[in-house]
Amino acid sequence: MIIAQISDTHIARSVPDAEQRAADLARTIADINALNPAPDAIIHTGDVTHGGRREDYELAAALLRQAHAPVYVAPGNRDDRENLRRAFSPWACRAAETGFLTYAVDDFPVRLIAVDTVTSDSNKGDFCPERVQRLVDLIDAERTKPIAAFMHHPPFVVGVGPDPLNFVTPEGMARLQRALRHSGRVTAVFCGHVHRSTVGRIGEISAMVTPCTATGLRKGDYPARMRDQPVYHLHRFDPAHGFGTEARIVAAATGNNDAARGA
Ligand SMILES: [Fe+2]
Repeated sequence: MIIAQISDTHIARSVPDAEQRAADLARTIADINALNPAPDAIIHTGDVTHGGRREDYELAAALLRQAHAPVYVAPGNRDDRENLRRAFSPWACRAAETGFLTYAVDDFPVRLIAVDTVTSDSNKGDFCPERVQRLVDLIDAERTKPIAAFMHHPPFVVGVGPDPLNFVTPEGMARLQRALRHSGRVTAVFCGHVHRSTVGRIGEISAMVTPCTATGLRKGDYPARMRDQPVYHLHRFDPAHGFGTEARIVAAATGNNDAARGA
């Protein structure tokens, strides 16, 4: 099974680089569509839009609907649950009609579980006991397949970047870690939020963050010639060895980008 992961597209019609953000997503989807072998699924680990507006979800959905593979979305702190649900349910979000956007996809050899880590109180993540129960119930609903969980906030200490803790409290992060580890079947956790590539562990579970798809918001030290080139992750699952991850660099846009950017 092959999963393409994108994240933090921050689509918005009313920001100075609105066109660039839309182009970054469109070109990333085109690159994923051209992969051979094709991925089985595309996961988006949140901050689909920058401000949660309905019209921005309409644009994001139109761009994501260009994907040949099925798309599944987890919410980020910039997202609005109800507007996201309205734009993406059920084709890219299988959550219930109300409540948290936590859901499972059972269509593949590896189960996918989207985890809602968003709280309205902070741009950091949170994980209350109600969400623990929902996640444990989803994990226990099927007991034979491995699981890849995907979520916005990385539930591990991030050693690069300004803030190692991306949850409101260490206790909230610990609750999520325990829920992820309780069955032994979660083999990988894929995240976004920190806008840079990094890896970590949650006990025996490998965890990683994919770079921000919106090139203008990407963190980390990239050469100037890559400023228009989104980077995303491809996760290949092998039953004997688990997931192996490769970073994919989208080809540079054709045409004069300097002129397009007014540089
Ligand atoms: Fe973000």
